[in-house]
Amino acid sequence: MIRSEALLDGLLIMLVDDDENICDAFGNLFKKKGWKASVFLDPAKALDDLAVNRSIYSAIVVDINMPGISGTEFLKLARDIAPFVPVVMITGHPSINIAVDAMKNGAIDFLTKPFEFDELVSAVERAVTKAKAYNLENAPYPFMSDEIGGRVKFRLEDKIKELSVLKAISDTLDNAEEKDAIFNGTMELAKTITNGEKSLVMLVEHGSKELVVHATAGYEGLDIIGKRFSAQIEPFKSVIEGRSQLKLSAGADEVSRILSGYTREGTNRHNLMTLVPLIINREVMVVLGVAGSEGRMSLTTDASALLLSLTTKASLKLANHALTENIFSSIIGVISSLINAIDARDTYTKDHSHRVTEYAVALARTMGCLQEVTDSILFAGPLHDIGKIGVRDDILLKRGSLTDEENALMKSHVTRGEEILRPLNLFESEKAIVLYHHERWDGDGYPNGFHKDEIPMTARIFSVADTFDAMTTTRPYRHALSFDVAKQEIAKCGNTQFDPLVVEALLDSEDFRDRN
Ligand SMILES: [Fe+2]
Ligand SMILES: [Fe+2]
Repeated sequence: MIRSEALLDGLLIMLVDDDENICDAFGNLFKKKGWKASVFLDPAKALDDLAVNRSIYSAIVVDINMPGISGTEFLKLARDIAPFVPVVMITGHPSINIAVDAMKNGAIDFLTKPFEFDELVSAVERAVTKAKAYNLENAPYPFMSDEIGGRVKFRLEDKIKELSVLKAISDTLDNAEEKDAIFNGTMELAKTITNGEKSLVMLVEHGSKELVVHATAGYEGLDIIGKRFSAQIEPFKSVIEGRSQLKLSAGADEVSRILSGYTREGTNRHNLMTLVPLIINREVMVVLGVAGSEGRMSLTTDASALLLSLTTKASLKLANHALTENIFSSIIGVISSLINAIDARDTYTKDHSHRVTEYAVALARTMGCLQEVTDSILFAGPLHDIGKIGVRDDILLKRGSLTDEENALMKSHVTRGEEILRPLNLFESEKAIVLYHHERWDGDGYPNGFHKDEIPMTARIFSVADTFDAMTTTRPYRHALSFDVAKQEIAKCGNTQFDPLVVEALLDSEDFRDRN
C-alpha cells in the first residue's frame, strides 16, 4: 500500500451535502489538514462541476440523504463521470443494507453518523491512498464484487453490531434514573457485548475492604445477593488496585464458582469471566462481572473496548446520581436541624414533630392507607411546623391568650412553611401536611377553610395526630391528659373538627393505649 505524506498533501476534496453547517464544519476541518474543499449544497451542480474538473479532485465526500438526487444516485453518476476519484459516503443510521449498497455502487468507504472528525479525515486518507494504488496501474478503484461483498459484509456486521451496542448503551443509560436501573441496564448490555450468560454488580466497601454482591442477572436459582468477598484477595485486588479490566478462566476456587454460577463441586474449566471496575471520583466503587461458557463467550479487544465505553458511561451516570442524592440528603439534614431548633425553642413541645409523625403513621396504617400516604407522612411530617421559624419567641412562647394580631401571625406558620419548602418540590400529599394540618372537617380551620374531602387525606390524618400530641404533653397552662382521656376528647370532635374515619382509627389502633 502506498502511503506517503506527499501523497496526502494539499488534497482537494469535493464536499456534497445539503446541510450548510456540516459543509462548513468539514471544510474547516480539511483546511486544518492543509487540504482544500469545494462545497456543493446541490448535488446536480456538483456533478456538472465534476464533468468539467474531474482531474483536480482527490476524493468526494457525499451525504446519502439529500433532496433531489439521492447520495446513492449521485454515487453512480459520479463514478461514471470520474471513475478515478474515490467516493466516501456518509450515512445516517447504521444499516447494513445501505452500507453494502453504497460499497456495491462503488463507494470506497462509508461513515455512519455520528462520527468523530478524525474518523472522516482518516477515511479520506485511506480512500485517497487506496485509489492512488489503483490509479498507478491506470485502473479505477473497483466496484465491490460479490466475493469481496461477503467479506465486507462480515466486517460491516461487526461494525454495525458495535454501533448498535453503542447506541443501546446511550439509550439505556440515558433513560435510567434510579441506581438499580443503571445497574440492571449495565448487566444486560455487558452480557450482550460479550455473549455472556451471567452478569453481576458488586459494590466496593472501602471501609470494610469488602465487595458485596448487589445485583445479578442470569443466575437463575442461585441466590448470591449479599454475598461478600474480601477486596484484598485476587482477582479483586488487581481489579481494584490496578483499576483495569481482568479476563480470567474460571477455576475451582470458591470465588470462581460463585461468579461463574457453577453450582457443582469440582472442576470449572469451561467458563470465562471478566471483571471490570467502575470508577467514580477516582475510586473503584463498583465491580461489574460477566461470565459465560468458553465456546460462546467472546472477550475480544472489540468487546473489551465496548465494555469500557459501557462502564465509563455507567460510572458517570452513577456519579451524577450520587451527587443529587447527596445534595438532597444534605438539604434534609439542614431542615432536620431547623426542626430540632424550633422544637428546642419551646421545652413543652420538644420532639413534638417526631412524635406527631409517629402517631400519623400509626393512624395511616390502621386505616389501611397506601404506602405512598405513609411515605409522605414520614417525609413531610417532621417538617409540618417549620413555618414557626418565622414566629417571634414572645408570641410562640406566650403563656396567656394571644391577641388577634398575634394569633394571625401564629396561624401564618402553615403558609410560611409551604413557602420555605417550595424549592424542594414536594409531592402534593406532602405539601398538604404542611399547609393544611390546621384545616377542620367542618370548614372552620385555616388557611383555606376547606371542608371534608377538600382537605387532602394526609392532612386529615395529621390534624388528629397533631391534636392528640398537644393534649398528651404537658403545656404551661395544663398537665398532660392520659391517652384514654385524650381519645375521648377527640372522639367528641369527630364530624366537627376531625374526619370521623381518622377518629375511628385512633380509637381502634393498638398504638394509642395508655402506657402505664
Ligand atoms: Fe401547626
Ligand atoms: Fe404541630
